[in-house]
This record gives sequence, structure tokens and C-alpha cells, in this order.
Amino acid sequence: MAKIAVLGFGVVGSGTVELIYKNRGAILKKTGVDLDIKYILEIADMSGTPYADKQTKDINDILNDDEVITVAEVMGGITHAYEFTKECLKRGKSVVTSNKELVAHKGAELLKLANENNCRYLFEASVGGAIPIIRPIKSCLAANEINGLAGILNGTTNFILTKMLKEGMDFSDALALASKLGYAEKDPTDDVEGYDASRKICILSSLIFGRHVYPESVYCEGITKITAEDAAYAENWGGAVKLIGSVKELENGKILPMVRPSFVCGGNPFSHISDVFNGIAVYGDAVGEVMFYGRGAGKMPTASAVTADIINAVQTRGESFPLEWEECSAASSKDYIADYQDGDGAFYVRVQSMTEKQITELFGAVEFLTRASKPEDESAFITPSMTERVFNEKIAQIKLNLLNKIKVFEE
Ligand code: HSE
Repeated sequence: MAKIAVLGFGVVGSGTVELIYKNRGAILKKTGVDLDIKYILEIADMSGTPYADKQTKDINDILNDDEVITVAEVMGGITHAYEFTKECLKRGKSVVTSNKELVAHKGAELLKLANENNCRYLFEASVGGAIPIIRPIKSCLAANEINGLAGILNGTTNFILTKMLKEGMDFSDALALASKLGYAEKDPTDDVEGYDASRKICILSSLIFGRHVYPESVYCEGITKITAEDAAYAENWGGAVKLIGSVKELENGKILPMVRPSFVCGGNPFSHISDVFNGIAVYGDAVGEVMFYGRGAGKMPTASAVTADIINAVQTRGESFPLEWEECSAASSKDYIADYQDGDGAFYVRVQSMTEKQITELFGAVEFLTRASKPEDESAFITPSMTERVFNEKIAQIKLNLLNKIKVFEE
């Protein structure tokens, strides 16, 4: 029997405990692994729950118990989670986590520590909620040279955009509902400003390209500036506005990771992904493109990924694996990670008080867009493809006219 400890009894922690006991027999039958939770580390009172006898408030109970071989860190945040994870790994206990903040900031160090202590640090639940994406990239797509990926990586913002733009709900009501449903981060600024998606793109970029990518190196814009007007233009154009995280290798060999709202055309499956769902497209030299889709947040979907990692950690105990990625200092990241302005593509622009002539003189052959109830002095258009540096220079010339700008998504 595999004795497990769970650090944290919040949304994901309680889901993981519930799922393990609900499906324990089926898990044993399918995998040969019999899971039993010995400890739940939690400060809040658990006396009203069926698991009160497993509660401890002292991490040392877990650290000093040799019977516990796998620990699920589902506390979130960095400070305590980082210290506890290090101590577990140093004692040869595998750690699985949904904590994308910790993996994005300290992943290289923790993976190395796990490697040195012959145990695992697994983080399937840190990206895409229920969607299997980390292990497919590591295993199923191992024969490919992967040169990029893109996706809707945050369930809360996709939920908010769907509720606001399709159902006319207020931003604050949609956010409150996302929090109530257990989708949003403790501080939802992390969702709406794109920080959560940025952490996920750091993890995926590090995994694909083999060097740690830190959130500080990722160009990041959230959804707070998207208006109903922009969404109406996107819809009339046949597409939708989505928060997209992406990374790709440029011709100069550098990689370009970013998170930003994007105009997605109707022919792209991302434009049809709504509610809390995530979708991730991975581009590889043998497969072309493969796409992963599923619930990107929520108690049981995330618990599914955490539990799968627990099973995997137990099954692979004692085996050695190559390091997923290596440390990359802030200084050397400049040689490796491109300036976002080096990227190129087309842009959606919404302006006021500009004539068609002024617009085409500045941007070239644009595609004009329309929407219902468009004010007379408002224009919206899609620019031809250009580098973001050139685009920014043009935009700087029309500061007073500019109402909004959004990158057009291209694979
Ligand atoms: N707040 C996150 C999201 C949770 O909405 O995607 C899952 O990582």
C-alpha cells in the first residue's frame, strides 16, 4: 500500500483526497497501485470532514515518517510550498504538485533536487487542469522536435470572457462566479492580468526547450482592457477574442514566449473554446500539430491530474530519469529569449477620428472591420503583417486616436 501525504486541503487538496477514496478500487485494478492517505497538512479546522483523523499541522510528522513516499503539494504560493517541497525531496520523497507559481519560479532547482535524491518532482496539474499535457510532451511526443505551442491556458479568464461577451454578464459578476466555482486563483489578479497563464507558458517553454524560462522574461498582457466593442468586431470578422499563451522558436534561434489577448479567426479551434475549458496546440516536426482540450480549472478536473501524478510517482519509484530542464540565469536568458518586439504578425486596431486615408497611409493595405451600432468616427481594422517594433512605432504616432489594439493570432 502506498502511503501518501497531502499538503493543503483547499479546492485541489480536498478534491484529490475525495477522488482517491472514491476511485481507490478502480485505481488499484487499473494500475496495481493501492493509495492510502496518511496525513493531510492543514492549518484550518478539519473536524467537520470525514478526513479529520488524518490532519496534522506539523510538516515534521510527514518529513520524519519513512512510510510516506509520495507527497502532493497542493497548497499554492511559494514560501511554505518551496521549503516543504525541498525538505521532502531531500528525504527522497517524490512530490507532485498543481502549484504552477512554484514550478515557474523554482522548477529547475526542484527538478535537480529530485534527480539528486532519486525521486520525482511531477507537475501535470500545473498546466491545463485536467488536460494531460506535460506527460504527452515528455513521452508521447518524445520523437518530435517541438518548435512551439499555443493555447488557452487559463480557465478563469476564458470563463469570464465567455460570460461577458456571450451572455452579457458584468466583469465583476463573472469573476465572482469563477471564484465561487473554484476556478480563480486566491488573488484573481493572477488570472485577469495573465500572470497565471504566463507561469504556465514558462513551464511549457522550459519543458520544450530545455532551459528554465522565468515569468520575468515573458511578455504578458491580461484581459482587463478588452471591451464589448472589440469582441463585437472580432465576432463580425468571424472570430473571437481569447487570452492566448504561446511560445515559438524564431529564425534567429531565440524563443518568444508570451501571453496576450488575441484576435482568433473562426477557422481556428481556439475561437470555439468557451467557458472554463482550455485548449493547447503543440507543433512538432513529425506530428505537425496536435491539440489537447479539456477543463482547465476546478476541483475534480485538477484532482484528476494530481492523482495521476501520484500514481506515476509510486509506479516509477527508484527509476532514474533525465533532467527535464536546466537552470538558465537571468543574464543568459537574454541570449535565449527574444524581445517581444522581434515577433511579427498582424494587429487589430480600433481608433477614433481618423480617416481611411490617414489609416492606410500609416498602416498600408488594412482590412476594415465593422460592427452593429458602430459610431461614425470609429474605425477598426486589421493591419498587414509587420514586426511588433514597427507596429509600436506606428501606434506611437496615433496615441490620441487609439482606442485599443490586439494582436491577431497566427500559428
Ligand atoms: N486559476 C487557474 C485557471 C486555475 O483559471 O486556469 C487552474 O490552473
